Amino acid sequence: MKNINPSHTKAWKSLKRHFNQMKKIHIIDLFRQDTDRFKHFSKTFNNEILIDYSKNLITHKTMNKLIKLAKECELNEAISAMFRGEKINRIENKSVLHVALRNRQNIPIVVDKQDVMPQINKVLENMKKFCQDVIQGKWKGYTNKNITDIVSIGIGGSHLGPYMVTETLIPYKNHLNIHFISNIDGTHIFETLNRINPETTLFIIASKTFTTQETMTNACSARNWFFSKTTTNRNLKHISKHFIALSANSEAVKKFGINPITNMFELWDWVGGRFSLWSSIGLPIMLSLGSDNFELLLNGAYAMDLHFQNTPLNENLPVILALIGIWYNNFFLTETEAIFPYDQYMHRFPAYLQQSNMESNGKSIDRNGHPINYQTGSIIWGEPGTNGQHSFYQLLHQGTKMIPCDFIAPTISHHPIHDHHEKLIANFLAQTKVLAFGKNISEIQQEYETTNSKTPYEENINFNSAPFKILPGNNPSNSILIKKITPYTLGALIALYEHKIFTQGIIFNIYSFDQWGVELGKKLADSIYLKLQHTNNISYYDSSTNGLINRYKFWTRP
Ligand code: F6P
Repeated sequence: MKNINPSHTKAWKSLKRHFNQMKKIHIIDLFRQDTDRFKHFSKTFNNEILIDYSKNLITHKTMNKLIKLAKECELNEAISAMFRGEKINRIENKSVLHVALRNRQNIPIVVDKQDVMPQINKVLENMKKFCQDVIQGKWKGYTNKNITDIVSIGIGGSHLGPYMVTETLIPYKNHLNIHFISNIDGTHIFETLNRINPETTLFIIASKTFTTQETMTNACSARNWFFSKTTTNRNLKHISKHFIALSANSEAVKKFGINPITNMFELWDWVGGRFSLWSSIGLPIMLSLGSDNFELLLNGAYAMDLHFQNTPLNENLPVILALIGIWYNNFFLTETEAIFPYDQYMHRFPAYLQQSNMESNGKSIDRNGHPINYQTGSIIWGEPGTNGQHSFYQLLHQGTKMIPCDFIAPTISHHPIHDHHEKLIANFLAQTKVLAFGKNISEIQQEYETTNSKTPYEENINFNSAPFKILPGNNPSNSILIKKITPYTLGALIALYEHKIFTQGIIFNIYSFDQWGVELGKKLADSIYLKLQHTNNISYYDSSTNGLINRYKFWTRP
């Protein structure tokens, strides 16, 4: 994998010139010039996912230039390197192999002279057996009762993926109640423990490192609570019926009191936290939906992996989305990208993408170790539609910022109650249309003329209010229609975004698979925590941090 500065490529320079023409063009013009624009700028994946990217400020010329950029940045070579298991996370000397976890044809992938597939298959088989036992009531709690509740404790990648997937696929879930605890704020665990019975609860401690402060603090509190509730105190035999670890750190798991041989499902250092829902970190998903559905999720992701690996760049969906993102981020200099799922079950999808994208591509040092002089990762945010429409869409329609959006909706609802779904989809379509085409003054005046409000007073109001009602449009969006949200299509959708992130990281010439920025905050929190324990005021840090710490001590002193 070469380290190529994208801004030094021929394609980048040509895109800059092209941008100077395109910035004067309105999406309306593009649709006028090409009446078949939808046909030319939309693609379907496996007859299950339609991506319409026609409502973007792009032409065939734009796309060709962007594809040239990807080629000059040697994207194809990077894709092959990732799938081959090369250590493309160079700073940490790790492979990036979440794709191996859904390598459903079992083609060998070699890391350090060893095929990783047998160990992946073994863990998957163990997970399946375990989940079957829990779901079927063969796995009993310490008083011989069936498990009814699963409490997953984890944070970041060890939380957001499983949480988002189990929420999105609620229609497929079984009888087990699933709870997630992530925040170190005691309120989170307090509220959960209040709702469960220790005899019938299984705690899953999900942490690749098994050292993350939030997770370990919550895990210890869960263990203390469990001991306090069980009749014989601190009985490790009871722990074995109620605590499971998902981790790459068997030593720490053992120290915590969980037997790594019987009660731990392994993952490996080549699985990045934010891409780990396909690994043992996905155990809560499998418990909630059953192993068949978990495998369908893997199958969907695998289908997208094959598409990403084998499709020419100009037909390649993750690449197309990534390049359109770069077009706005690096040429229009947009700051953010919004994700609007028109599906209530997908309410955590924007938060999930926020981590996977922003932790991956929020970097400002290139792969040569030099500061970057162009934009990298966008700010990702979003909310489910239609709630967002009654909150922040006003700014999208009439604010001063261009905000590229992805609208995502299923065509077939899990709950076709009366006309709810048609209305939901009508809103989806209305918003993408208005964002692109807006409403001009003559349309507004025409509306006035056709209404019957003809008193001079009303006419005056109409005349004065007209400019405020103009919607400039020209705000780009992708529309992603999913036939139905199933484990398979969700797997494909997540993988689509994973590969979009990968593609952008390669072109940005950054390392997408480390997260040093987050590491520093974690260390500092540990050191401040120790300072909070002392009764004396401190003057160790900057004046603001000292001031806040000292006020905290003053207000919490008995
Ligand atoms: O937020 C930083 C991070 O390292 C993420 O990348 C990771 O998903 C999360 O912390 C949790 O880490 P762990 O699984 O080791 O507890």
